[in-house]
Amino acid sequence: MTDSKTNPRTQYFAPSGSLRGTLQVPGDKSITHRAILLGLLANGETEIDGWLDAADCRSSLRVASLLGAGVKEQGPVLQIQGTGGTLAEPVDVLDCGNSGTTLRVFLGALAARVRFCSVTGDYSLRHRPMGRVIQPLQAMGAQIFARSGHLAPLCVQGGRLHGIEYTLPVASAQVKSAILMAGLLAETGTTTVIEQTVSRDHTENMLLGFGAHVEREWLSTGGQRITVAPGQSLQACRVQVPGDFSAAAFHVAAALVVPGSTVTLQNVGLNPTRTGFLNVVERMGAHLSITGQRLSAGEALGNLIVHSEALQGVDIHSEEVPALIDELPVIAVLAAYAHGTTHVHGASELRFKETDRITAMVSGLQNIGVDAEETADGFIVRGRGDGIPGGQVSSRGDHRVAMSLAIAGMGSQRGVEVEEWGCVEISYPRFLTDIRQLGYIGL
Ligand code: S3P
Repeated sequence: MTDSKTNPRTQYFAPSGSLRGTLQVPGDKSITHRAILLGLLANGETEIDGWLDAADCRSSLRVASLLGAGVKEQGPVLQIQGTGGTLAEPVDVLDCGNSGTTLRVFLGALAARVRFCSVTGDYSLRHRPMGRVIQPLQAMGAQIFARSGHLAPLCVQGGRLHGIEYTLPVASAQVKSAILMAGLLAETGTTTVIEQTVSRDHTENMLLGFGAHVEREWLSTGGQRITVAPGQSLQACRVQVPGDFSAAAFHVAAALVVPGSTVTLQNVGLNPTRTGFLNVVERMGAHLSITGQRLSAGEALGNLIVHSEALQGVDIHSEEVPALIDELPVIAVLAAYAHGTTHVHGASELRFKETDRITAMVSGLQNIGVDAEETADGFIVRGRGDGIPGGQVSSRGDHRVAMSLAIAGMGSQRGVEVEEWGCVEISYPRFLTDIRQLGYIGL
């Protein structure tokens, strides 16, 4: 959750008539964060076209400018004047707001390049686990001090790091990226990160675009080994940010549960490390079409076309989870509309997101008349098939929980009132405007 005083608003989502039309969803959040960080570290001016202008990415922007980046906003293009790899000692605490990606991924660079800084975030971020990123960075020689339990605020005294070989104990693109950044900025030794299941690989793709050499080796077990050498300089470039797949997933879900809908989502990022949700909705019975598929700077994108459809419950297994981790809240909603039971396994990571998303979604669904239960590492939803009654729920200050419950309301019998709605500013400030563009008139 974010500090509750920043999210006072309650928003009602009435049952919706059919959704129709075409939408360009906002820019990808993960890619925007990375482009700001690499832009800060590069030589020259990086242009980030189609960046996500939302609170989380503004946290990265604020941190980057305290570390010495020049920042100019020119309409949809963000210009970052890089420092060439040196980082200024920030004159204030680096406040990452609600953004785990800002705190964890920037930490890799801070550990190698900043003389001294302190890093913090909002209530939610100050309660999320940081040991997973602190420990490997300390093994590289970093001096990072944390509150008890490895919690932020953190203090960093940057210094000379050495490369390591590190096997990620949990799939985390944030931790992987922090270690790769530290490895790139280290004094000596190559750094190798091994992951058992491939997590989103935007950092690997974007480093290539900034001229770094990154070696990737695919493992027969389905994972990968990524190796970077130290002492490489980054060259500024133009980053074209695709539409955010995780934002598009809300509209896919809305179109599936609101009868009579047909929606086209344009220029959506379709990086296969992100699109596990598509496999799941197809297993549930949806028929999606993809047109205009192409590659841009190593990132796949295309248009998604989706129609409303009767859905069936499915089982989701742990090896699928990294590629759909952020879509599990909206999958819980689809499961509530489906016929039969959906059981999600191996998703205990959901408990460490902006809020505990297992508890938030299960209690949210229960409040609106759905039979749902928590398990230690996931949830079980017994779909109603015949629709959801509706009622009052809280987002608990979590943007993805808020938008998932909004979709639940749009397909429901009497609507859903979402408390603490304001947190959608974190990743999707235009959400209400966009659903209206698709014909939603219940606001
Ligand atoms: C992200 C990685 C994922 C994801 C988060 C964004 C990223 O987190 O849930 O929303 O941009 O690297 P983890 O690294 O904790 O899995």
